[in-house]
Amino acid sequence: MNAFPDDFTWGAATAAYQIEGAVDEDGRGESIWDRFCATPGKVRAGDTGAVACDFYHRYPEDIALMRELGLGAFRFSIAWPRVLPDGRGRVNEAGLDFYDRLVDDLLAAGIQPFPTLYHWDLPQSLENEGGWTVRSTAEAFVEYVEPVVARLGDRVRHWTTHNEPWVVAWLGYSWGIHAPGRTSEQEAVDAAHHVLLSHGWAAEVIRREVPNAKVGIVLNLEHVDPASDSEADRAAAREMDGRANRWFLDPIFRAEYPDDVPFSPPVRDGDLEAIAARIDFLGVNNYFRFVVRDGLELVETPGAQRTDMGWEIHPESLTKLLVRLGRDYAPPSIYITENGAAFADVRAHDGGVHDLERVDFLASHIDAVGAAREQGAPIDGYFVWSFLDNFEWAMGYSKRFGIVYVDYPTLERIPKDSFHWYRERITSLQPA
Ligand code: FCB
Repeated sequence: MNAFPDDFTWGAATAAYQIEGAVDEDGRGESIWDRFCATPGKVRAGDTGAVACDFYHRYPEDIALMRELGLGAFRFSIAWPRVLPDGRGRVNEAGLDFYDRLVDDLLAAGIQPFPTLYHWDLPQSLENEGGWTVRSTAEAFVEYVEPVVARLGDRVRHWTTHNEPWVVAWLGYSWGIHAPGRTSEQEAVDAAHHVLLSHGWAAEVIRREVPNAKVGIVLNLEHVDPASDSEADRAAAREMDGRANRWFLDPIFRAEYPDDVPFSPPVRDGDLEAIAARIDFLGVNNYFRFVVRDGLELVETPGAQRTDMGWEIHPESLTKLLVRLGRDYAPPSIYITENGAAFADVRAHDGGVHDLERVDFLASHIDAVGAAREQGAPIDGYFVWSFLDNFEWAMGYSKRFGIVYVDYPTLERIPKDSFHWYRERITSLQPA
């Protein structure tokens, strides 16, 4: 039985800072991740994105691999500091040229480009002025989006504004474990609001510039289970769902923040209407579920299987999440824009990488997506995180998520067993 139609999009995802390297080339400006990596103690083993997978130079080789894989779409992000090195003002044409070539080469290989406009690499000059905690950064985002869509809009149809506003705001501004490394919950609330506002404003710009555009935003969303049936645990699960999921879904789909979450965002007249700009698709990134007890405490399921990130493997929760999104928010379309797993991959004596745990993970999660489709969730695509092993933010190069292994000393690419499995899976589902 095949839960997936012929025109279902099978993709793989990446992000600029995690793969490109070439941080000082062709006029790119400094980003908050360059600065964060240069700050001792912030990133494991002092790793940085300075070289990463060297995708900036090796993308033709990578596109050849994507073609071999039979990929339908490639999700990547555009680095704001390549396009506007100072965050606003002067446009660096050489930065745009790179994405122009990338888009042309993807299309020539029959692969749909799925760019994300913001995957966390804010120009450092904007951070110096307050970063996402200030409203002027949302205005600068629109200034950045305009030349990008003007350059690529004739060829790119699917546009994503932001990747995971919750992570941008909370890990960057409240927990301090991502760039810019700040530690104030109110700043996280402010940052989240300005990210959402900039999404709504940018969605209007994209629609104006690219008449047939499909515009979306990517959220990290997690199904939340209470640790027990007790009233207190169920209330905790509802509160966690409010903070992590509804805080973002409600303004985007209903032009309101949930009234049961105790945050005070800096809302001005017209903001909520702007945030609720019509979107064509919701991107869902999902890696795990939450199990929560009274006091908002996360509970570990004894004996559960986990990935190398320590994340519980629980595909049924992905089905529940997707069915619920379709029912409660009725998005016109959903793409799973990230799903995947890190494991401690090694090259075997035969030269291959036999990542059978990742094959199991992908198989069970793709089945979970199929089950959600059968229950009515309007899902049109699935992207594996990630195409390549890459720079996993504060964890540096210690976590491997790719279906292609990267040997960092030589930058050689070695397709893992999961790559071959994914190729079989997606080609058997595509029309001959
Ligand atoms: C997501 C990010 C992505 C990657 C995966 C593992 O939160 O969007 O860049 O790091 O986690």
